[in-house]
Amino acid sequence: MKRRRVCSGVRWLGAVDWNRRLFESLTPTPNGTSYNAYLVRGSKKNALLDAVDPLFERTLMSQLETTDRLDYVVCQHVEQDHSGTIPTVLKKYEQAVVLCSPKAKPMLVDHLGIAPERIKTVEDDETLSLGGKTLRFMHMPWVHWPETMVTYLAEDRMLFSCDLFGSHIAGTDLFAGSDPHILDAAKHYYAEIMMPYRKKIRKYLKRLDALEINYIAPSHGPIWDQPQSILRAYDNWTSDQVSNTVVLPYISMHGSTQVMVDYLVSALAERGIKVLLFELSTADIGKFAMALVDAATIVIGTPTFNVGPHPSVVSAVYLANALRPKLKHAAIIGSYGWGTKATDQLLALMANLDVEFLDPVSCKGMPRAATFSALDVLADLIRDKHAAMLAGV
Ligand code: FEO
Repeated sequence: MKRRRVCSGVRWLGAVDWNRRLFESLTPTPNGTSYNAYLVRGSKKNALLDAVDPLFERTLMSQLETTDRLDYVVCQHVEQDHSGTIPTVLKKYEQAVVLCSPKAKPMLVDHLGIAPERIKTVEDDETLSLGGKTLRFMHMPWVHWPETMVTYLAEDRMLFSCDLFGSHIAGTDLFAGSDPHILDAAKHYYAEIMMPYRKKIRKYLKRLDALEINYIAPSHGPIWDQPQSILRAYDNWTSDQVSNTVVLPYISMHGSTQVMVDYLVSALAERGIKVLLFELSTADIGKFAMALVDAATIVIGTPTFNVGPHPSVVSAVYLANALRPKLKHAAIIGSYGWGTKATDQLLALMANLDVEFLDPVSCKGMPRAATFSALDVLADLIRDKHAAMLAGV
């Protein structure tokens, strides 16, 4: 892809990675992704904001062929999908200086071997005039590493947000417009990348409220040219509001846990509760993460595997714990053959979840009448908890 005009003096550079199917060797990216860099040209100086994944070094360097001079490379985030080609850019532009947050400087030295004398740190809210283009650097740690910052281009009311407000989506559209598919991809991305930092992002949204923003230009996915849509979505996702939904990840080895899951799904549906079910041997873990964005409750279904929970369930619970969703309640159901410590072991994996644990339901062998009664009690309890929560009690 050639570089493209965003507005006067601002160009999109970067790479569209149509074929990437896994990010960080974990997160499914069914729609590919992009690594966006931006060139801002002032009357006196030029700046490149972020770079691209090292796999696309040639793409970026060919986009820079017609740029004779570069004064600054702004590194908003040291993760290699944005910084990995900065050393090559610095080789071409020997006078260029890297601008980054104080926390980013040693990371650039450690990760990329950039000489410290080529790095200048910028303070929070520091401004830099390029000549008719003024960059304002805003430190925003943990979106998505501790060194991250965003940059506001005052004259164009454009926010360069790096990972924040991104979406893993490859395409030829430079702008998101009002495409609901892109907003959906942004929710998917939020779940996997940003959700653990929900409370910090909420504070950052308030800070951004003070800015007039016409464009949000992230480093993954299209540019938000109607930024209120993604700002409203983030306001909703990061709020404490949850929906009348149960997320139910589960595994069944010989059918007993499956019977319990089927019964509970039906019982919850009869009580007006939406259930999002994930059979973990086939589930898309990205969709599971996305389901956690605003669900009120998680119910985990596991058989006992060598006394503990099934390994696939352990993996899903570990992920949910790491993503720190705003769940309010959790419960565990499942069967066992002769003895079990599955519930205790799963509870120990959920230390990050600020939830009320509801009484587990487990049974030896096939579920019987007492098991179904206990599942009905659990469904009643979830209904009552959700009703009280939605009523604001
Ligand atoms: Fe897109 Fe945290 O890197």
